[in-house]
Amino acid sequence: MRRAKIRISRFNPDIDKTPYWQEYQVPWEKGDTVLGALIYIYEELDPTLAFRFGCRYKKCGLCAVEVEGRPRLACLAGLKKEMEVSPLRNLPIARDLAIDRGFFYHRLAELKLYIPEQESMKWPAVIKEGIQHKRLIGCVECLSCLSACPHYDYRDTTFGGPYLFVKLAQLHFDSRDKIDRRFQARTLGIERCKGCRYWGRCVPCTSGIPIFKDAIRPLS
Ligand code: FES
Repeated sequence: MRRAKIRISRFNPDIDKTPYWQEYQVPWEKGDTVLGALIYIYEELDPTLAFRFGCRYKKCGLCAVEVEGRPRLACLAGLKKEMEVSPLRNLPIARDLAIDRGFFYHRLAELKLYIPEQESMKWPAVIKEGIQHKRLIGCVECLSCLSACPHYDYRDTTFGGPYLFVKLAQLHFDSRDKIDRRFQARTLGIERCKGCRYWGRCVPCTSGIPIFKDAIRPLS
C-alpha cells in the first residue's frame, strides 16, 4: 500500500514554548482525505494528537485547518504524498490543530449577534428572505476566513474580521432584526477593509459565500 508523509504542527500550551513539526506516515489510497489521515494517526499512531471534527462532510466547520498554508476543511481536502497541516492562523490555539472556539461564542454573546427571543417569537416559523440572506446563513462557522484575513488578529478586538461581518450581514438582511448592524460594523472597524489588498473580493469562504459582495459591501 502507498504511504503519505504528513507533517503536523504540534503545540501544547501547558508544556511547549513554541509549536514544532512532527512527521507521520499514513496509508494513502485514492480519495483519502486529510481528516481521514488525522483520524488514522489518532487511532493507530499517536492518541495525543488534538484536532476537531464533527460531521465529516462540510456541515459543521469544526475540522478547518491550514493545509499547505491555506485554510481548508480537512474533511474535503484530499491527501497528497507529502503535506503539512497546521492550525488556523490568527486564532488562539487550544492544542495542536484545535483552536479555542470558546473565544468566539463569548464574542457573539458580548456583541449581541442574535435576534432577541421576544422579537423572534413574534414571527412565523418559516420566513422568506432574499438570496443574499440565504447564502449568508450557509456559513458553517469554520473560521477559515479569519485565518486568511491579513488584518485579523484575535487579540485586537477593535476589528471584527470577515466572520463577524458575515454574522452582522445575516442579521442586516433578516427582517426580524431591528438593530443598526451597519453602525455595529463600523464600530468593529469595517472601514479598515477599504485599505485591504483583498478589497473588492475578500478572502475565500469554504461555504462559497461571496463575503465582499454579501457582507462587506452592504455593511460598509
Ligand atoms: S468535519 Fe464537519 S465540516 Fe469537516
